[in-house]
Amino acid sequence: MRFAVLASGNGSNFEAIVKAWEAGEIPGELAMVFANHHEAFVLQRANKHQIPAFSFTVKEQGGKEAYEAALLELLQEQAIDFVILAGYLRILSKDIIEAFPKRILNIHPSLLPSFPGLHGIQEAFDYGVKITGVTVHYVDCGLDTGPIVAQEAVLVEKADTLASLEAKIHQVEHQLYPKVIAECLKKESNS
Ligand code: GRF
Repeated sequence: MRFAVLASGNGSNFEAIVKAWEAGEIPGELAMVFANHHEAFVLQRANKHQIPAFSFTVKEQGGKEAYEAALLELLQEQAIDFVILAGYLRILSKDIIEAFPKRILNIHPSLLPSFPGLHGIQEAFDYGVKITGVTVHYVDCGLDTGPIVAQEAVLVEKADTLASLEAKIHQVEHQLYPKVIAECLKKESNS
């Protein structure tokens, strides 16, 4: 099973995934990383771990439709079976979603269906929730929708600031995502 990681920025989740994969905790082949910005730090992380890294932008491809087609082509050329979104800040096209039925995972920093979108941690914090957390889900055509695979709660304590809550959530993400990816890939290769 060959899997790809799609990311847009820092790539701390990619780092947790690649380390778990190098330690033999995730089966299959971490075959490639794709970023939709050439300067995304995740690309440097991929190079450091000698994982093939690709990037192109919507603008370079001449628009959204051509970009999505080029991304699907890249995933197919690389014979990818499973796609992991890790801070990929775009919604995938219907064509890509349909090419990987129940084979695309995303991680979101809130307890979905609460606080979908780009600012899940901040919105939960501002709302004053006492419990938030992390969700791993299969991707469908919506924004942070799709069947939930795993969730882990994070308590918001009195002393928490937005920064301390972010740190707690990322710590949980880095434990949870590699574990869930390993389980899903094992299930897929046995099916
Ligand atoms: C994570 O909080 C993830 O839940 C969200 O985007 C963030 C990516 O962080 N989808 P990083 O790039 O993995 O550090």
